[in-house]
Amino acid sequence: MGRVEGKVAIVTGGASGIGRSTCQTLAREGASVMIADIDDAAANKSTNTIGDGAIPFHLDVTKEEHWQQAVTYCLDQFKRLDIVVNCAGIGVSGDFEETDLSEWNNMIAVNLTGVMLGCKHGIKGMKAGNTGGSIINLSSLGGLIGAPDVVGYCATKGGVTLLTKSVALYCAQHKLNIRCNSVHPTYVDSEMLDPIAEMFGSREAMITAMATEVPIGRIAIPQDIANAILFLSSDESAMITGSPLIVDGGQAAGVMGKHSGP
Ligand SMILES: NC(=O)c1ccc[n+]([C@@H]2O[C@H](COP(=O)([O-])OP(=O)(O)OC[C@H]3O[C@@H](n4cnc5c(N)ncnc54)[C@H](O)[C@@H]3O)[C@@H](O)[C@H]2O)c1
Repeated sequence: MGRVEGKVAIVTGGASGIGRSTCQTLAREGASVMIADIDDAAANKSTNTIGDGAIPFHLDVTKEEHWQQAVTYCLDQFKRLDIVVNCAGIGVSGDFEETDLSEWNNMIAVNLTGVMLGCKHGIKGMKAGNTGGSIINLSSLGGLIGAPDVVGYCATKGGVTLLTKSVALYCAQHKLNIRCNSVHPTYVDSEMLDPIAEMFGSREAMITAMATEVPIGRIAIPQDIANAILFLSSDESAMITGSPLIVDGGQAAGVMGKHSGP
């Protein structure tokens, strides 16, 4: 308990999945949390699971004026901003040659521009609050290696990987006492996978099939990712910046197989 005691966090995408679990985890460990999402009803529900310590805030990550309002509100309410978790994201799968340009542009706007705006305005808020801070950007395993049926998604997440490193170096160069790291999950059993579960016919079938790709034999749950985000949010990770934290059950470590006989 108390690993982020007294800190103040803005978590985008906090109404669902990994973001919701992150809000609950940060609040349990002593932080005040702004649950920032476009889905107001779900953000309210997420807030109710926490009670004191959480505030819902309507934020479309693609809109710069929303970010300005969110940071202003945060500083008015709490006088500080210590943690920004850029978790809002969307995924579109399908045949690359059939890529719809408006879907592509929307995915770039939410997954990449939204994260850039979160870093930009997060830094401004942390400077104004004079506390330093930690920015955590949700990339993906797909931000480190490619996949043929989620080309655009991987492109946005790869962008987040290097955006994170560059922002980390910017903050270090300007001696801002602000760290910036990315988190790279494998499949996580969240609402984001609902459309894929439908394609598999059932959630169980999807989870079983996906688990075969993960060396430790299961896909992630949102709490697995929230635990990594908690670590990067806390002062326990004070020496870590510009780092990709891979939370994938070993999937990116190499190929499984028998290399010493049958
Ligand atoms: N679920 C996975 O398998 C998985 C794997 C790797 C990485 N990720 C990444 O983790 C992050 C969270 O994923 P999740 O599984 O919790 O997804 P989710 O679909 O459960 O939640 C995403 C949240 O983002 C919000 N959102 C969407 N567009 C927004 C916008 N423009 N402004 C503000 N909020 C917006 C949604 O309302 C929703 O609450 C995403 O960035 C995703 O790409 C997920």
